[in-house]
Amino acid sequence: MTSSALKTAFAHADRFRSNLESRPPKAPASAEMLELAFGLPTPEHGLDADTVIDELAAAAEPGLMGMAGPRFFGWVIGASHEAGVAADWLASAWGQNAGNFHASPAAAMAEKAASRWLLDILNLPQDSSVGFVTGATMANFTCLAAARSEVLCRVGWDVEADGLMGAPAVTVFIGADAHATVLNALQYLGMGRKRVVAIETDDQGRMRPTALEAKIQATVGPKIVVAQAGQINTGAIDPMSDIVKICRAAGAWLHVDGAFGLWANASSLLRSQTIGIEGADSWATDGHKWLQLPYETGFAIVRHPAAHRRAMNINASYLPETNGAQYEASQYVPELSRRARGFATWALLRALGRDGVERMVVGHCDFARYLADKLKPEVGIRVENKVRLNQVIISFGGAEADQQMRDTLTKAVILEIQNRNRVFVEGGDWRGHWVLRVSIISEPTQQADIELLADEIIKAWKKVHETHAMLASPKA
Ligand SMILES: Cc1ncc(COP(=O)(O)O)c(C=O)c1O
Repeated sequence: MTSSALKTAFAHADRFRSNLESRPPKAPASAEMLELAFGLPTPEHGLDADTVIDELAAAAEPGLMGMAGPRFFGWVIGASHEAGVAADWLASAWGQNAGNFHASPAAAMAEKAASRWLLDILNLPQDSSVGFVTGATMANFTCLAAARSEVLCRVGWDVEADGLMGAPAVTVFIGADAHATVLNALQYLGMGRKRVVAIETDDQGRMRPTALEAKIQATVGPKIVVAQAGQINTGAIDPMSDIVKICRAAGAWLHVDGAFGLWANASSLLRSQTIGIEGADSWATDGHKWLQLPYETGFAIVRHPAAHRRAMNINASYLPETNGAQYEASQYVPELSRRARGFATWALLRALGRDGVERMVVGHCDFARYLADKLKPEVGIRVENKVRLNQVIISFGGAEADQQMRDTLTKAVILEIQNRNRVFVEGGDWRGHWVLRVSIISEPTQQADIELLADEIIKAWKKVHETHAMLASPKA
């Protein structure tokens, strides 16, 4: 007998997703409304699952954002493609613990096959190991744990057994415009957020190879370099081939944080931006961004599987022998009990195919350039980055506006767009001033959505400009 709770959940999900195109992208409910809806007294007695699912949907829906829809351009958010969502439902329904092969042979082999497809589509060395983690933050953590293990192992230190106390110092070099979560990964690894050597970047946030070379040559001992594919604001990708050469010459481990930008390497049309990237030692990327997998999926990819396993290995008498004969997915991730993420990744790669992934990624980059070209001629609108990937950052203000005024106007434009609620964008700081950030990374987005986005930005700017002009000349 099929559980009616599963059927009820399906009906809610289906209705929600069918309405995504017409639904305003920003959640209408306030924190107070949602707290009231969820904040029932502690349940003393149980309820049937079917009723609970109805209650949950009623409480949650007013607070759901249209992230899976076509007009969500905030942060860097993928759209949870239905093939991945459906496979992920099955993973839950099957109730598998993907901790080891014996616990779930299907989960292990799906991960193994999906790893091979991923490496192929991303054009990375086929014998790399892949850890299926919760996102790029944990992918960076996992890769950097392998890096730490390897560079210390080379100088005779066993960091897994002996920890970092008394270990030879490891120097970490990182671009000054790296993502905040890489520093978190270093923090979790006991390597310190502040101990990094920050490398100067150019106007797009790309690491300057000459600056890296000068600093690395002046350093002795184990070294790790963290480069980036896809700066969170500009989308810029570090000059990989120069960085690879410098790292090789210095004997440094090169890690690439490619949360979204690594996917440029899946396209022959975009690969001019990533040349050399396959020469790194490890790569972190997200599944829930450009690949459109449901949250939470990220991939920790390491060229040196032995270092990867050494850093993540879990041993206990009741667990299978980890002698390398059997594929054990938990040897590549920090957790033991874990969700069977391979099913969704396998299903989505199968549904999109190599050409589908490339078409989507290239299409988003084309949309980003189109948007920038449409906005550039508008008086008072300034596109702040060279748009080569999927990110566009914009500031607002006439020629007369000083920096402080530009920040105020830019924040007002973002708020106006959010209040109109036909598209969703957010803001952020870029080089000390506020910008409107657009990330085009949602599979359902079409040309008409980009036209609407451009229109909404221009309309909001015109309104903010007019209001500002009226306030500035109260007698008029
Ligand atoms: C470049 C980069 N690295 C790391 C992350 C962190 O990714 P996640 O939120 O999936 O952990 C992000 C998120 O946007 C990112 O853009």
